[in-house]
Amino acid sequence: MSKSEGIIQAEVDKAIEAALTEITGSASLADLKKAKGSILGEGSTLAGFSARLGKLPGDQKAEAGKMVGSARSKVTEAFEARESELSSLEEAKLLEKEAIDVTAVGRISRTGARHPLTLLQEKISDVFVGMGWEIAEGPEVESEWFNFDALNFDADHPARAMQDTFFVEPTEQKLVLRTHTSPVQVRSMLERPLPIYVLCPGRVFRTDELDATHTPVFHQVEGLAIDKGLSMADLRGTLEHFARIMFGEDAKIRLRPSFFPFTEPSAELDVWYPGAKGGPRWVEWGGCGMVNPNVLRASGIDQEVYTGFAFGMGIERTLMFRNEVSDMRDMVEGDVRFSQQFGMVL
Ligand code: DAH
Repeated sequence: MSKSEGIIQAEVDKAIEAALTEITGSASLADLKKAKGSILGEGSTLAGFSARLGKLPGDQKAEAGKMVGSARSKVTEAFEARESELSSLEEAKLLEKEAIDVTAVGRISRTGARHPLTLLQEKISDVFVGMGWEIAEGPEVESEWFNFDALNFDADHPARAMQDTFFVEPTEQKLVLRTHTSPVQVRSMLERPLPIYVLCPGRVFRTDELDATHTPVFHQVEGLAIDKGLSMADLRGTLEHFARIMFGEDAKIRLRPSFFPFTEPSAELDVWYPGAKGGPRWVEWGGCGMVNPNVLRASGIDQEVYTGFAFGMGIERTLMFRNEVSDMRDMVEGDVRFSQQFGMVL
């Protein structure tokens, strides 16, 4: 029997030692997997022993088999031990990496704020809904008929001129961006059963340049009441109530004779209020009057039986003197810091 065929303990011990060194030296589970291949896989010393076992003479097989078997189990045990060691190590590392510092300062995400014009528009609507009025809406792209004709504007009324009104092309369609919320009056009279008590807030458009006191897109609120026996006194009482809620208990109103094609008589509406920084004063707030019989007729309402009053004012303007906003551009620029001053109502 040649030496190369026999398996001697020293040779096996050497292989075990080499294997153990490699196993304990593996720094990661991935390295350990590689080591497993080279220690136990095809072509490894241990695999070589198994191959040689088969060729040994019968009387040597048992002893050599034991040697190789115990070598295999030592190596396997060492693998298992190192594997569990490495997995706890790697898990600990992962936990450390994923640890959350609950004492760290959080990232603060900024919340928005509702626009003060929206808030004011809702407040105004609430005042009228509280009196049993309804909210009415109409289109922003409006026919000239609703925007002007039905409201008794003459064909050559200056408000129809190009410099005030946005006309929608092609002009033969006779569509405009509504220049006021008054066309919703006519729509309400045509659509609703009598009596009518409606408030129409909404966006309106005029060809103005944006500056401290003008904006081409702004908001108005229109009021319309049609009933039997309504008079200027009802108009006055309604506006006084509205003014007090907007500007405080001490607010007063005054009506100055004026002209609007859709009301007769017509008046400018001023409000006197305690003011904030500006102190007590009269300010021009809007227009109003008794609905012109021609407008009632255009809407199919019998002006012998029904009378009505109407009023309209700008919401931007109302916000300007109610809250001392001196520059209208602040309202359109969309800077949340402006909105936040009016509270964080969501
Ligand atoms: N529509 C008018 C404007 O834009 C405001 C107005 C005046 C509305 C008198 C009315 C009213 O309802 O009666 O200037």
